[in-house]
Amino acid sequence: MEARPALDNGALGREAWSVLGANRTGSCTVPAPGLYPHQWNWDAAFVVTGLARWDTRRAGTELLSLMEGRWSTGMVPHIVFHPSQPSRHSHAETYFPGPSFWRSRDRPEAPNRVSTSGLTQPPSQALALWWVWRHATDRDEAAALVRLVYPMLVAQHDHLAATRDLGGGGLAAIVHPWESGMDDSPVWDAPLDALPPLRPAYHGREQRGEAQTGHHDRYVWLAARYRDSGYDPAYLRDHPFAVEDPMFNGIWLASCEALAELAPVAGADPAPHREAAERIRAALLDRLWLDGLFHARDLRAGRLSPVCAVGSFGPLLDPGLPSDLVATLVGVLESPRFMGAAGYPVPSCEIRSPQFDRSRYWRGPSWVITNWLLLRAADAHGRTELARLLAAGTLRLVRQAGFRECFDPFDGSGRGSRDFSASAALTLDLLADSVAV
Ligand code: GLC
Repeated sequence: MEARPALDNGALGREAWSVLGANRTGSCTVPAPGLYPHQWNWDAAFVVTGLARWDTRRAGTELLSLMEGRWSTGMVPHIVFHPSQPSRHSHAETYFPGPSFWRSRDRPEAPNRVSTSGLTQPPSQALALWWVWRHATDRDEAAALVRLVYPMLVAQHDHLAATRDLGGGGLAAIVHPWESGMDDSPVWDAPLDALPPLRPAYHGREQRGEAQTGHHDRYVWLAARYRDSGYDPAYLRDHPFAVEDPMFNGIWLASCEALAELAPVAGADPAPHREAAERIRAALLDRLWLDGLFHARDLRAGRLSPVCAVGSFGPLLDPGLPSDLVATLVGVLESPRFMGAAGYPVPSCEIRSPQFDRSRYWRGPSWVITNWLLLRAADAHGRTELARLLAAGTLRLVRQAGFRECFDPFDGSGRGSRDFSASAALTLDLLADSVAV
């Protein structure tokens, strides 16, 4: 474990601001220097969330900057390559897969001004905007932002409903592990292993867990197949990877509820968003709930994943989840399968699972991102003690190891990149609570 001086809240907050300052390039914040030099979809949402109670203007700029990458279909891409972030260095793109891989500019529905990827990520932007609206001190500025962004978010949700209900049961399927945000989670192992054998034609390994799991070529192959279809929604019916993930859909549902809260500010009717949330809730229960837990459904194999990971708790984000299910899920979360046997919240994979690995990204380490989501979910269900444990454990992690991408859940040591924007931003949100108390 790295030795760090114990930081009080003031010093921790100053460090968080300095990370967000250093990672700002042009109008947006990159997830981390070096490894992630562009704007990512859900990372941007977490930056917006963290700024919500401190700097409405910068939160708005961040969100609008991400929205510059949206496609005319409504799709919000998982990476936006802004011109202020040079993607070429010595005639080679610094990040792989970069703009020349995704070829968004070949698509008439993609924006002209920026290049983007062709995948998406969990639709967390409405949640983030609602957080801004709920907390902003400058009400006029926040209202103007809501009026501007609300229609873009409606289009984002409509696009998911129109193109991603590949199982026909009312959920959105991800068509690539990167779309989950939990890239190398063991939940994707079986669907990736079931892909046809590949020729070793794909290169450009990132220094990531996914390279170590041997799946990197499959990630690239899958993305290339979708790209080569022209990002055609009709093609997705035959795409070999299609999974209904409880975290992605839990976030979608919570974002529908957020849109319902925001609709009156934008002069719109909240009812369709409440109805959408109800449809997703019913589908989650119908399609992903089994033996006291939500599981990802592999649409190609036609079965639920046996692996239990942090994504299984995503539907807790639903404020309307029936209370007996909330109690069951919280029981598992607090048990030795997750928090009960870890020193720090929340392992990204069930500890007793054979795939659990305490030091590899989404295969075991704890993330501020998922801790924050679960803590807000706990709050929404009146589980104040759980929320307090999640907040205190998360603050202990960043105090001890810094704003790392993720952390060893047993000893709290940092893993992945340093100076990770989402970890810094969400810490600011946690600090806002302790200031308010
Ligand atoms: C990794 C993470 C993903 C994140 C991205 C940028 O791919 O798994 O959640 O969005 O990095 O930080």
